[in-house]
Amino acid sequence: MDLITPLHLAPLDPVGQGAQKLVFRHPEDPRVLVKVVNPRFIERRDKRDRFYQKRRHIGHHRAFAREMIEHLASRALAPGRLAPCPHMQNILGVIDTDMGAALLVEAVLDENGDLAPTLRDLIESERYGEREQQALETFLDWALTSNVLINDLSADNLAWNPDGHFVMIDGLGDRAGIPIRAVSPWLNRLYKRKKIRQIRDEIQVLQNQTRADTL
Ligand SMILES: Nc1ncnc2c1ncn2[C@@H]1O[C@H](COP(=O)(O)OP(=O)(O)OP(=O)(O)O)[C@@H](O)[C@H]1O
Ligand SMILES: [Mg+2]
Repeated sequence: MDLITPLHLAPLDPVGQGAQKLVFRHPEDPRVLVKVVNPRFIERRDKRDRFYQKRRHIGHHRAFAREMIEHLASRALAPGRLAPCPHMQNILGVIDTDMGAALLVEAVLDENGDLAPTLRDLIESERYGEREQQALETFLDWALTSNVLINDLSADNLAWNPDGHFVMIDGLGDRAGIPIRAVSPWLNRLYKRKKIRQIRDEIQVLQNQTRADTL
């Protein structure tokens, strides 16, 4: 894979997109995803907030920086050893593209080699069964008991690895201006308890909607 020549994303169709990012499959390796900040998001944000535009340092790449810090922090627990965390998206690096700097990440894939479903997809397609629910409990237990920092724990940000575990593909790190949770495990855990309550509520709402839609 050529990592040095800037990648041309403009002719490609994104395979995923949320509020902030466009996600492409790497044209040379389908196991790799290329994440860029959506140029439309940057435009909107700059128009709305001139101060932000002038003062930006890391700017729109803040989300990437947060994810990378958490990635490195999890590896720092096992210095000098191979120790990927099954519950966190694996980050492979940063490259240049015609849509700005991009984060290269390992794709979570389903049995057919397509992008894995998110927790939302599973619920909406009525594939959120006993096994998936147990795996979610294992994930939430890890999220709460590890030191990981989380800001956006939602059904869109968890991908289902068909091996039987959930992977957080977005929403890691601390968004606060003063990153107090990074130095206070107690506050971090308190905050994560709230996030876990919220995702349980979100799941309930999605399940109710799905049931109502199928009636
Ligand atoms: N590592 C991954 N493996 C499989 N699918 C992924 C992966 N990363 C992202 N996706 C897919 O792309 C979608 C969007 O990705 P992501 O959540 O990173 O961007 P985003 O939602 O725009 O970010 P934000 O939540 O900050 O607005 C996901 O909901 C998911 O469907
Ligand atoms: Mg997302």
